[in-house]
Amino acid sequence: MNINIITLFPEIFEALNYGLLGQAIDREDIKINILDLREYQINKHGQVDDKPYGGGEGMVLMAEPLEKSLKDIPLDVLGKVINLSPQGKLLNHEKAKEFSSLTSITIISGRYEGIDERFISQYVDEEISIGDFVLSGGEFAALSLIDSLSRFIPGVIGNKISVEQDSLSQGILKGPVFTRPENFNSELVPEVLLSGDHKKIQEWKDNQALERTFKRRPELLKSAKLTKKQKKLLEELASKDIL
Ligand SMILES: C[S@@+](CC[C@H](N)C(=O)[O-])C[C@H]1O[C@@H](n2cnc3c(N)ncnc32)[C@H](O)[C@@H]1O
Repeated sequence: MNINIITLFPEIFEALNYGLLGQAIDREDIKINILDLREYQINKHGQVDDKPYGGGEGMVLMAEPLEKSLKDIPLDVLGKVINLSPQGKLLNHEKAKEFSSLTSITIISGRYEGIDERFISQYVDEEISIGDFVLSGGEFAALSLIDSLSRFIPGVIGNKISVEQDSLSQGILKGPVFTRPENFNSELVPEVLLSGDHKKIQEWKDNQALERTFKRRPELLKSAKLTKKQKKLLEELASKDIL
């Protein structure tokens, strides 16, 4: 996958070079192309932003440097142009998966008050928000977007099953996990996990996942595809009113 990033702060993307994502970049499963918006300034003063028309707070990233940087990306690797914005569609599991199937994407990281609306109307295919809060820059949203979509790219996560069992893959959350020691400050690992009985362990994990979702994110259960067994368990949880 080719990922182009237009930003005023290229150094922030050093963070991509760590862990599984970093390894995928080393293997060139993912190719990152960072464009420093300053290099597309409109004058010798390095100008890329200006005051908003009509007054108001802060500065706005100008359309011209953004256009120049975009036009510097070869058309065959430009792909979908995504602007990060708190006004965009909320990023979720499905969206990240959808983006991972594209061969190329171009991500615009805004700053200040955002970017000139005319650049959005002329060049942007989709606006994405990573949550109902405001960041000071799109770079951190871009890192989250790239990390989340990369998990669906074949080979990035060594163990495919691990991705499939992660929270939200089956529409619900994953249950709790434990590792050594068995006794931590007098709190013991649930006995069933030490039993060696794989059927029982799986049943416990499935129940925990459902219970956790019921307690923490009950709205997910409305659209989750549940088995008959899970539906029955859910009815039991609801009747116990464990919230
Ligand atoms: C301070 S914000 C601009 C907010 C804008 N004035 C508004 O009210 O919608 C600066 C930049 O941070 C990024 N940003 C802020 N919050 C974001 C979010 N929730 N999701 C994605 N990007 C975000 C965008 O790139 C945005 O252009």
